[in-house]
Amino acid sequence: MASPRISYLIFSMLCILVLLSAGEDTKLYVVYMGNLPSQANGDSHTAAVSIHHDMLESVHSSREAAQESLKYSYGKSFGGFAAMLSPSQVQQLSNMAGVVSVFQSKQLQLLTTRSWDFIGFPASAQNTNLAYQSDIIIGVIDTGIWPESESYNEVGFGPVPSKWRGECHTTSDFPTCNKKLVGAKFYRTNGTIPSGEFLSPRDGHGHGTHTSSTAAGNHINNASVYGIGQGSARGGVPGARLAMYKVCWLDGCTEADILAAFDDAIYDGVDVISVSLGFYRSFNYFEDSIAIGSFHAIKRGIFVSNGAGNSGPTMATVINYSPWSLTVAASTIDRKMESKLLLGNNISIKGIAVNTYTMEQPWYPIIYGRSCDLNSSNHIQMEGRIVLCDDFNDFLDYTIYLGRGAGLIIMSDELSDMALVWQVPTTTISTKQGEVVLSYINSTSSPVARILKTTTPKAPAPIVASFSSRGYNPITFGILKPDITAPGVDIIASWPRNTSLTKNIGDTRLSNFNIISGTSMSCPHSAGVAGFIKSYHSNWSPSAIKSALMTTALVMDPTLFGNGDAEFGYGAGQINPMKAIDPGLVYDIGVDDYVNFLCKEGYNDTTLRLVTGDFSSCDFKESSKNGARELNYPSIMVDAIPGEPIQARFPRIVTNVGVAKSTYKATISAPFGINVIVEPDTLSFSSLNQKLSYNVTIEGGPILTNKLLSGALTWRDGIYNVRSPIAIYVIPK
Ligand SMILES: *[C@@H]1O[C@H](CO)[C@@H](O)[C@H](O)[C@H]1NC(C)=O
Ligand SMILES: *[C@@H]1O[C@H](CO)[C@@H](O)[C@H](O)[C@H]1NC(C)=O
Ligand SMILES: *[C@@H]1O[C@H](CO)[C@@H](O)[C@H](O)[C@H]1NC(C)=O
Ligand SMILES: *[C@@H]1O[C@H](CO)[C@@H](O)[C@H](O)[C@H]1NC(C)=O
Ligand SMILES: *[C@@H]1O[C@H](CO)[C@@H](O)[C@H](O)[C@H]1NC(C)=O
Ligand SMILES: *[C@@H]1O[C@H](CO)[C@@H](O)[C@H](O)[C@H]1NC(C)=O
Ligand SMILES: *[C@@H]1O[C@H](CO)[C@@H](O)[C@H](O)[C@H]1NC(C)=O
Ligand SMILES: *[C@@H]1O[C@H](CO)[C@@H](O)[C@H](O)[C@H]1NC(C)=O
Repeated sequence: MASPRISYLIFSMLCILVLLSAGEDTKLYVVYMGNLPSQANGDSHTAAVSIHHDMLESVHSSREAAQESLKYSYGKSFGGFAAMLSPSQVQQLSNMAGVVSVFQSKQLQLLTTRSWDFIGFPASAQNTNLAYQSDIIIGVIDTGIWPESESYNEVGFGPVPSKWRGECHTTSDFPTCNKKLVGAKFYRTNGTIPSGEFLSPRDGHGHGTHTSSTAAGNHINNASVYGIGQGSARGGVPGARLAMYKVCWLDGCTEADILAAFDDAIYDGVDVISVSLGFYRSFNYFEDSIAIGSFHAIKRGIFVSNGAGNSGPTMATVINYSPWSLTVAASTIDRKMESKLLLGNNISIKGIAVNTYTMEQPWYPIIYGRSCDLNSSNHIQMEGRIVLCDDFNDFLDYTIYLGRGAGLIIMSDELSDMALVWQVPTTTISTKQGEVVLSYINSTSSPVARILKTTTPKAPAPIVASFSSRGYNPITFGILKPDITAPGVDIIASWPRNTSLTKNIGDTRLSNFNIISGTSMSCPHSAGVAGFIKSYHSNWSPSAIKSALMTTALVMDPTLFGNGDAEFGYGAGQINPMKAIDPGLVYDIGVDDYVNFLCKEGYNDTTLRLVTGDFSSCDFKESSKNGARELNYPSIMVDAIPGEPIQARFPRIVTNVGVAKSTYKATISAPFGINVIVEPDTLSFSSLNQKLSYNVTIEGGPILTNKLLSGALTWRDGIYNVRSPIAIYVIPK
């Protein structure tokens, strides 16, 4: 499934065709060099460029060739560059001093609003602390932005915060930024610009306009898509500023550009970065542009929110799983987008789709088009008819449009939990519902039907979307991923005025809003809430904010249909902004702790010193190679060994951010047959910011099934409930 519309739902399954020919075939590579040399800052960029030229010159025939090959010199926030290189040059550079990793610049893909009310975050609560909200800047790395959207209107905003040192790349089609949209830049190493694109920060796609308005768009009344989903639209932190870093284009996004955006965003002074991008494959942390960029961001106190990926419900498909990122799954809100199908025999079938059309005639003939591939469709007479298809492909609705069909019914069990926008009147039904339609078609000589415009009835929620990527963590088994879930199904947010709802040729429907789904949508929900928390706690570290989000999350119901993967589907639960601003205790993690974790994960001193820029060294004296267990993470993941009993210790340290004098008791919910021991089980604080340690010991097993066992540890003091999920799983070796 990869139609242009669905593709941003699908983090690409990129088969990297590394066509390493023996010749001088060059490709774009990232040469990552870790932290900046000490004392370096944005001003020493010229020096960095010169070092990069020298390095390239030593592998090229001439300085001209070296300069020609260089695409970016990073050096504002971390070291490295991007260049066109041959395999032999890659080899030589990999061996040079100061180089952490050299990797090909992979192509990544893109993976209201009722959603805020649903998660208990009403506009009245959001409109608090506005003076501090206006100091917050959310950086969005995406497809650009439609600056004229009301979501980015500057009315009511004071001067741009003085900490901002970013820029606005103005062009004839992007004349200016403003006090709301404080910065906008674009990055494109590839000289070929896809048609329909703007060579500017302007969004020709729609994704970036949608995600940025979800993160921090202004409050807009009467938002809807042709009347569907009518309500107010607003971002998570509507009083904050936005900065757009356009790295994704209609043909995808490349890592060299993404790193250039991180390099700038970190330097520019953003507080939060939202990255709804990904790549469906596991990489080491320092061969993955998003993990690298996020690491340097958190080093500077910048919170990073990432989408968990759209490759569910298959196990271990979660992406963006580094322990320093917030990895966000996607779940439903309590309304669905229902587009009913009426059959001539008065049977009504509840299909799912965003159908903006009201059919002119009461009934249309209905025919069965089977798989409806282009060739067979040519043979069916679809003009004026509703066509039932039992498969869907890239251009199905476009085919029906070209054939002047009256409408489309798609029978597929893959589209059951999200509503897509289609070019013609369309509804999607399950194969079981399809049987009813087929038997009606068979039962009469002139079957007729009608597809109704979408309505939005209530639905049970929250349910993790089937497309949302699932744990376990494919690289570090002992860190539970995803971390959290947020609304990511049928989300209404802003859309470029000139981009049609489907982007198909012939679709003339323009709207200031559109409805789309994906972890691309849940990611900016979390970024916005992180910004909101930061407006209350400007001195909190990214990991403290993440802890607040996780330990206060709404506990999900694993028995609801769709939630069977439990923590591997939703992590700690559904994001809960009102609770997260006042969590009681936080699990803080400093850069040193991540370094310690990386040591135990097998990264050596040489690599670590480059990445951290200091003389970090791996001190294994007290380590037991349990980097994941010993990281002060707000969740607990036991990666059990097949056939062996479990014996695992998780040291934790909590910081009091609630009430100065308070006493917390541990409440344990242990899976059947497993012992969870917390020592000490009472924590008495006498002051704010005081830290106290405890150990969790988990014993039992061996576990025979490969089913996830769930439990929880909750610290309670009568006011706060600080909950960490416990997940136990036998990781297949
Ligand atoms: C540049 O983009 C075009 C498509 O837009 C693609 O065919 C081409 O391979 C890209 N070039 C590089 C060097 O990535
Ligand atoms: C609300 O939006 C709809 C559709 O865009 C429009 O027809 C209607 O006039 C608007 N109502 C108000 C009160 O602005
Ligand atoms: C469908 O319902 C309408 C109105 O209730 C009724 O007039 C009509 O006879 C029904 N048709 C069939 C085929 O049952
Ligand atoms: C569709 O038809 C064209 C022309 O008749 C043919 O070349 C092509 O192979 C067919 N495609 C499929 C998938 O059958
Ligand atoms: C409808 O008829 C077709 C053949 O005309 C047959 O293949 C199919 O099984 C029938 N479907 C139902 C649901 O009766
Ligand atoms: C948007 O479309 C309108 C109408 O076609 C056109 O006048 C305007 O220039 C377009 N805007 C941009 C930025 O392309
Ligand atoms: C450190 O690790 C890197 C990357 O795995 C490797 O190239 C290098 O040789 C290692 N250095 C030492 C001193 O082991
Ligand atoms: C946790 O366990 C370790 C190892 O047994 C011990 O050294 C440490 O003191 C314990 N911490 C607390 C707070 O009990």
